[in-house]
Amino acid sequence: MSEGKGIERGKIEKIDKIREIASEIKKSSYTTVLTGAGISAESGIPTFRGKDGLWNKYRPEELATPQAFARDPKLVWEWYAWRMKLVFSKKPNPAHEILAKLEEMGLIKSIITQNVDDLHERAGSRNVIHLHGKLRDVICSSCSYKTEAEEILDKTIPPRCPECDSFLRPGVVWFGESLPPDELNKAFSEAERSDLILVIGTSAVVQPAASIPLITKRKGGKIVEINPDSTPLTSIADISIRGKAGEVLTAVFDEIKL
Ligand code: APR
Ligand code: ZN
Repeated sequence: MSEGKGIERGKIEKIDKIREIASEIKKSSYTTVLTGAGISAESGIPTFRGKDGLWNKYRPEELATPQAFARDPKLVWEWYAWRMKLVFSKKPNPAHEILAKLEEMGLIKSIITQNVDDLHERAGSRNVIHLHGKLRDVICSSCSYKTEAEEILDKTIPPRCPECDSFLRPGVVWFGESLPPDELNKAFSEAERSDLILVIGTSAVVQPAASIPLITKRKGGKIVEINPDSTPLTSIADISIRGKAGEVLTAVFDEIKL
């Protein structure tokens, strides 16, 4: 088949998949969404494992584990202060905005996100479950004291707790730590009651998030994956489309509005 024919066929396939995804969303009675760093890539926030991913430049075991924080709280805080300033300066992209519109239209019920940014909320999404915590939360490493990132960003790091003088830490889940049980249970029950889950912008390698779509599948629901690359989920997804979240969701939204 000539080069041109190949590209032609690829384009037609993509349009068919867009149409299929739009019709699955319209047909579904309970759709949830699982998002990863890829959905914020078009907002200018680096992913973790892509070609220019954060874990290619930094070693997670030095920056995103309780041991790293105990060993060098200043280094860990320098990295998180950099990420906080970066994330807080970015804006939601069309992918976040379209998911918020679909929620308003009653076409999606909740977003389960692995992301610690607040771009879903800033785009207007209301039912957002944060499996890995939030960059805006700052908590005490010993007592129940909690504050906002903005409160400490201009102070000396590592900041100390005004109640017990221990080090404060970012309110995110580090490798080796357990996920917030309420959020995780909410995510499992959402996946359980869904007949469709849209999996957008995740490499699907970090557990237990990566197993959430399987819960929907096991209950007879469908998986739609939106990602420029294939992932371990691709082979079991009912529809897997190669593409950027902003572009694909814009095309799907146009199809739904028709
Ligand atoms: N649109 C959609 N997907 C994209 C885009 C885009 N514009 N750009 C990149 N991607 C995809 C990549 O192909 C990759 O599959 O997003 C995915 C990003 O994968 P990761 O960087 O591994 O991010 P994520 O899956 O969210 O990581 C899970 O790992 O480090 C921990 O706690 C961290 O929550 C994070 C978890
Ligand atoms: Zn304290």
